[in-house]
Amino acid sequence: MFNVAIVGATGNVGRKFIEILEERNFPVKELFLFASKRSAGKVMKFKGKDIVVEELCEENINNKKVDFALFSAGGDTSLEFAPKFAKIGAVAIDNSSAWRMNPEVPLVVPEVNPEDIKWHKGIIANPNCSTIQAVVALKPLYDNYGIKRIVYSTYQAVSGAGMQGIEDLENGLKGEAPKKFPYPIAGNVLPHIDVFLDNGYTKEEEKMIKETRKILHNDNLRITATTVRVPVLNAHSESINIELEKEFEINNIVDLLSNSKGIIVYDNTKELKYPTALQVSGKDEVFVGRIRKDFSIDNGLNLWVVADNIRKGAALNAVQIAEIMINEK
Ligand code: A2P
Repeated sequence: MFNVAIVGATGNVGRKFIEILEERNFPVKELFLFASKRSAGKVMKFKGKDIVVEELCEENINNKKVDFALFSAGGDTSLEFAPKFAKIGAVAIDNSSAWRMNPEVPLVVPEVNPEDIKWHKGIIANPNCSTIQAVVALKPLYDNYGIKRIVYSTYQAVSGAGMQGIEDLENGLKGEAPKKFPYPIAGNVLPHIDVFLDNGYTKEEEKMIKETRKILHNDNLRITATTVRVPVLNAHSESINIELEKEFEINNIVDLLSNSKGIIVYDNTKELKYPTALQVSGKDEVFVGRIRKDFSIDNGLNLWVVADNIRKGAALNAVQIAEIMINEK
């Protein structure tokens, strides 16, 4: 049995961590919940038991023995506190972008690069939600056909922007002005996730590009991305256009994806079967549909990839990393 800490327990992903540990029957000996000072003293439930939320501070960490610290409390909090948990012997699995591109920190999706867990030094990074679902779908193609180029276009849910993102959509539907997003998200589509960079891309787009390369161990992979916030509560959808190295038949791609770990192919246009955010929200797998050739280039392939951004895109992926480590112990 293991002692687990959740940092950012009161947040959107933090609450999902608690739910997933419970539903997967993760071998928890003791669960510690941390959030900001504002939430200290708040009571949350785990397996029917009350747990009091503690303020995240050195004093409250140093008196504990923690095996896994699951982080989702923003980049600054991770930068400061993940090393402090590592120092007391825990493995910090961090959902923020703070550590992802650090060469000393593995960036892991269990279905794609579990082998990278081995070289951790106390911190393991969970990729960006939109990257996770994309690489789960891309990995079998990468291994079997090779990939020359990827074009990502995303349709991302407001839950990815935390509680404030959800409130902006819900309140926006009642006519209220947004607080988190620069423009109303209700009835709107915003080609803007995270901050803008000098090169014209957003940081979210850069994350998808750089993280995909790190996870697939290929710094030269040609990738471009446009990431877009849409008025959907939960589950991200992505159009992924891929130029493969080798020729392929669609049937073989469908078979390959159908037999790959963590993927459900849901694709039958005659019966109007394709994955949608509403249907995929709450599910663990990455759903793939609209599998078809891109006839405008040689070896071109189009996929429609949908996954629950809070489950597989965040909390579940982190818990799966911890499960692999436990199984290998
Ligand atoms: P709190 O609820 O006390 O503000 P979300 O992204 O869904 O808004 O959640 C963010 C999570 O990160 C919350 O649990 C929030 O706690 C926590 N958090 C934010 N800032 C800090 C901080 N400085 N120290 C610890 N936890 C923090």
